[in-house]
Amino acid sequence: MKAIILAGGPGTRLRPLSCTRPKLLFPILNRPALDWTLENLSKAGVSEVVLAVNYMAAALQAFLGRRKYGLRILYSKEPRALGTGGPIKLAEKILKLKPGEPLLILNGDIWSDVDFAALREAHRRHMEEYDAVMTLTLREVKDVSRYGVVEVDGKGRILKFREKPRGGKRKGLINAGIYLTDRKIFRRLEERRFSLERELFPRLAEEGKLYGFKHEGLWSDIGKIEDFMAVNFKVLELRAEGRLEIGRGAKVAREAQLRPPVWVGEKAKIAAGAVVGPYAVLGNGVHVGERCKIKKAVVFDRAEVGARSLIQDSVVGEGAVIGRGVKIRDQTVIGDHAFVADALKLVRKVSICPHKEVGISLIGPRILA
Ligand code: GTP
Repeated sequence: MKAIILAGGPGTRLRPLSCTRPKLLFPILNRPALDWTLENLSKAGVSEVVLAVNYMAAALQAFLGRRKYGLRILYSKEPRALGTGGPIKLAEKILKLKPGEPLLILNGDIWSDVDFAALREAHRRHMEEYDAVMTLTLREVKDVSRYGVVEVDGKGRILKFREKPRGGKRKGLINAGIYLTDRKIFRRLEERRFSLERELFPRLAEEGKLYGFKHEGLWSDIGKIEDFMAVNFKVLELRAEGRLEIGRGAKVAREAQLRPPVWVGEKAKIAAGAVVGPYAVLGNGVHVGERCKIKKAVVFDRAEVGARSLIQDSVVGEGAVIGRGVKIRDQTVIGDHAFVADALKLVRKVSICPHKEVGISLIGPRILA
């Protein structure tokens, strides 16, 4: 089985952190989201992965190279953004699928434990019994309004597909962004900006060729800052099982308190009197000053937090420097290598762009560019 990962979106909803890294390299417990996916693909027996890249393609290529977890990795670079369908058509020549060879298509910004082998089996059945062209992984959520919503019959056939329908919050089945198909799909795609969700899926559903595979395990997307934080905390809960995870070479002062679940990256330093957690993910080489409080927060590699500062329900980017006595709260996001002067308050959805120097307190929602 081969796979193609859609990896080229600009991740605008993850700004300012996505100004300096592609969405697929956002860390989930200090490990890029893409690594989690590639490892799962390798375990499911996938041999070759094509990465459909566009935004920050060079960063992805430099990070991954040509082989990882035993997978051969190829790149398909678009001349311009082609959406979710165009990149698959463009990669047709690179994928070189044989007749009947299964193709797994993944949105790169999904963290899940979807059983790819079971999905392949479900699609094989849908093809044999109903001449299906594609099987979508489906997920039940409490609020369908942000997603592609499906109506399914008793045989798993998708009767209707609607992308982000109006009509308020309601529970239902949505497109989980992981699909199984084969080379028959290329006839239905075009090498232009093309949306699978708006152009292909509704049409396939009308023709009765689109089927569903319900996934009940773990599933999250990392499309927005809140989602990205929630995925980190979910995985933290699962991995750490209430214990502390302290990376190699990390130094935690005896008088500091770690309140699980907490993840402390390698070579991090936590000074006396600091209280870290519950729900804190500290990257490698992070420095936490004396009597700081960090909870419900993700702090990227090598960020420094000055003494007596508070980071709560927020994200601090790589190499950012936070002064002393600073308060950062309520979904505030500090871009990579930004600097926040002593004693400031950045509260309620304040976004600080990378490398910015902040000298005044701000109450958001606000973007400091
Ligand atoms: P926002 O800008 O925040 O909406 O995010 P996005 O466009 O990066 O991602 P979106 O959730 O809309 O897309 C789902 C998946 O498709 C993600 O894995 C994206 O990386 C990918 N994707 C979106 N647009 C493109 C594109 O033009 N080319 C390629 N290769 N991938 C894309």
